[in-house]
Amino acid sequence: MIWINVLLLFSLLTFPVLLWLNKHILKGKNKAMNAFIKKGRRIHPYIGITVIVLGALHGYSMLGGQFMFHTGSLLLLLFIANGILGFAYKKKKDRKLSKLHQAFGLLILLTFALHYLNPWFFS
Ligand code: HEM
Ligand code: HEM
Repeated sequence: MIWINVLLLFSLLTFPVLLWLNKHILKGKNKAMNAFIKKGRRIHPYIGITVIVLGALHGYSMLGGQFMFHTGSLLLLLFIANGILGFAYKKKKDRKLSKLHQAFGLLILLTFALHYLNPWFFS
């Protein structure tokens, strides 16, 4: 079940790569890609929320409901913070918020690597 979440996380992380490719390499001229990105932009927040819900369920079942600070908890907190940034960006359309949202994406990638390779780093 958690591997579904990793797949969804991967799709969140490739979104900026797709946007970059479309803008700089395809120059927005590929119709299929433009349509795909339009859909992607619409479903991206739902994917984000799904990752948060599945991550919380996985964390709860892994730790048997006990509350502790774990690399997984840090990962989940970063996701929630980034979701707030994403929605703030959607509302205000501020470039700085978009950059911050993507910088948090990078932080999420690094934290996921830690969570996978050394899950008990904080213990
Ligand atoms: C938010 C997204 C999350 C993702 C994508 C994620 C992903 C993963 C993955 C891929 C594994 C390795 C599974 C395996 O090797 O079979 C794992 C293990 C684990 N995760 Fe998460 N996780 C997330 C959130 C959390 C949270 C919130 C917690 C708890 C607070 C947590 C606690 C754990 C624990 C305890 C393990 C087992 C570590 C061990 O091998 O001893 N995870 N997670
Ligand atoms: C984890 C890594 C993530 C990455 C790399 C990422 C990346 C991006 C990128 C590149 C954009 C477009 C910014 C622009 O147009 O300038 C975006 C927009 C957005 N993101 Fe994320 N995101 C991530 C996670 C999330 C999560 C977890 C949520 C929500 C729970 C979320 C919600 C949003 C929203 C609401 C927008 C605005 C969409 C729109 O323009 O209609 N993102 N994100």
